[in-house]
Amino acid sequence: MTQIPVQQLGRTLQIEILRHNPRDPDSVPHLQTFEVEEADAMTLFIALNEIRETQDPSLQFDFVCRAGICGSCGMIINGRPGLACRTLTHQLPQRITLAPLPAFELIGDLSVNTGKWMRGMSERLETWVHRQDLEQSDLDSLEAPMEPQLAEQLYELERCIECGCCIAACGTAQMREDFVGAVGLNQITRFRLDPRDERSDAQFYELVGDETGVFGCMTLLGCEDMCPKDLPLATQIAFLRRRMVMAG
Ligand code: SF4
Ligand code: F3S
Ligand code: FES
Repeated sequence: MTQIPVQQLGRTLQIEILRHNPRDPDSVPHLQTFEVEEADAMTLFIALNEIRETQDPSLQFDFVCRAGICGSCGMIINGRPGLACRTLTHQLPQRITLAPLPAFELIGDLSVNTGKWMRGMSERLETWVHRQDLEQSDLDSLEAPMEPQLAEQLYELERCIECGCCIAACGTAQMREDFVGAVGLNQITRFRLDPRDERSDAQFYELVGDETGVFGCMTLLGCEDMCPKDLPLATQIAFLRRRMVMAG
């Protein structure tokens, strides 16, 4: 994600962070500015760590993999959702504003509980392969070979890292807590394509065929624009919607 042309190094970055601890009754949301000397190839992950190590050990933010894989470092970076570990400071202006992803429970500062939201969505949409009367002896059949092209299609959809950027970027998700969002509809597309899942199209459509799913989407496109994995989210939603309308 390149927001502006590459800047000169040697800058002193002003990093403005929305601070709030919802568990402290005396905490009032406010912006706090930290200054950091920009280093070569510095990511926001490195800058935030430096702030925590040298200026304020109470600063809360999440990172696990630092490689765009775990999905835990999503935040609002100068007004746009993105992964802090994959964002180079030299792609940003000298003044950088960071805020937590909206629509998720705030843990503190830049840390939000995407896991709780994703678990709720996953339980509601039952995002696992459904097989009836599965015996232990049938387990081998789960590993039956799959057409390479289909396996590739599934693999493509499984690249979602559940970072929450598509939810933060979606107007519907801000207005409706029960909207499963592009991430949920991506899951439905994934399991609907999976030949091992015995659910019928009608069962899938029942799960997302209302305003909490496909018909809540207003084609705002923020999900697809902001997905760090470049998943074709809006295209998939449009496809699902067409199929449902055709199925009556
Ligand atoms: Fe993140 Fe993209 Fe998955 Fe949404 S679909 S959670 S933006 S990786
Ligand atoms: Fe939201 Fe994406 Fe639809 S941003 S409204 S889910 S196209
Ligand atoms: Fe894992 Fe950024 S720390 S995606």
